[in-house]
Amino acid sequence: MPRLHDFGIPDRGNHAWTLDEEASRPILRRAIEAGINFFDTANVYSDGTSEEIVGRALKEFTSRDQAVIATKVHGRMRPGPNGAGLSRKAIMAEIDASLRRLGTDYVDLYQIHRFDPDVPIEETLEAIHDVVKAGEARYIGASSMYAWQFATMLHVSEANGWTRFATMKNYLNLLYREEEREMLPLCDAEGIGVIPWSPLARGRLTREWDAATERSRTDEFGRSLYEHTADADRRVVEAVATIARERGVPRAQIALAWVLAKPEVSAPIVGASKAAHLDDAIAALSLILSDDEIRRLEEPYAPHPVIGFS
Ligand SMILES: NC(=O)c1ccc[n+]([C@@H]2O[C@H](COP(=O)([O-])OP(=O)(O)OC[C@H]3O[C@@H](n4cnc5c(N)ncnc54)[C@H](OP(=O)(O)O)[C@@H]3O)[C@@H](O)[C@H]2O)c1
Repeated sequence: MPRLHDFGIPDRGNHAWTLDEEASRPILRRAIEAGINFFDTANVYSDGTSEEIVGRALKEFTSRDQAVIATKVHGRMRPGPNGAGLSRKAIMAEIDASLRRLGTDYVDLYQIHRFDPDVPIEETLEAIHDVVKAGEARYIGASSMYAWQFATMLHVSEANGWTRFATMKNYLNLLYREEEREMLPLCDAEGIGVIPWSPLARGRLTREWDAATERSRTDEFGRSLYEHTADADRRVVEAVATIARERGVPRAQIALAWVLAKPEVSAPIVGASKAAHLDDAIAALSLILSDDEIRRLEEPYAPHPVIGFS
């Protein structure tokens, strides 16, 4: 099942394109009515307002028992050395703040948003283990980092008997497949659930190469992800368009079906800025690409510089 997040007050925090509460609520409601039950947010998204909006909507539209709530820690919330990162002090402060904003006494999945090279791995792992033992998180996950960093963390948690990561949220889509080299095989070998972010390349896989939307015009982070490989990327986008035309479905369904076809992937984290986007996300679940279609989608790909880890 695709999972969801795109919500936060636009003039708070890092993304000018996010939807405010009034615009977010109908999408969240429709998602719940359609059976989507997993919602991904982060302390840092829109300066905490994403957690507030998601928390209030879930309370109204579903029960805590039905909802699977994921949030993250690492991004900068305040100035100073304790206002970001994965120290014990930061983690303990941030889980409390996230629970307060979400209006719940536990999250289902607590994820480290990035690797923190300034903190000993043992300190981070013991702190998130303690968060689980305190009943504030049911499971823990990690997000974009080098595979060697994740492998080391898995080893250290096992050696100490601490809670093991259940998931890896990494950057994977038809325009960025570098994770196929190391991270996906590692997750497969270790039995880690893979829940990729930006499976539609932040919308680039859903429309004409030169088309712009309100989000794409202000998406600075998104722009930085695709500067280097424009020719090959354009041909991948054209391959998506061709197969979508042959199948008579929107491009988003083809791009999501490709992510879902990867055996290591549990579920992509889909960003929906319109309620109708949910229909494609759900339809993609039953769209099975043939081996030949997958070959044609993958054929134009050119390796990208490794990105998304900082
Ligand atoms: N862990 C991390 O480091 C990290 C990093 C980035 C994101 N994430 C998570 O992953 C989620 C998804 O990332 P993302 O929003 O970048 O992902 P995405 O799913 O690749 O892109 C979403 C965008 O694609 C377009 N779109 C979606 N469905 C569509 C459809 N059916 N038809 C046409 N266009 C469609 C919309 O663009 P327009 O709005 O332009 O129309 C939407 O804003 C985020 O919300 C966040 O929770 C995590």
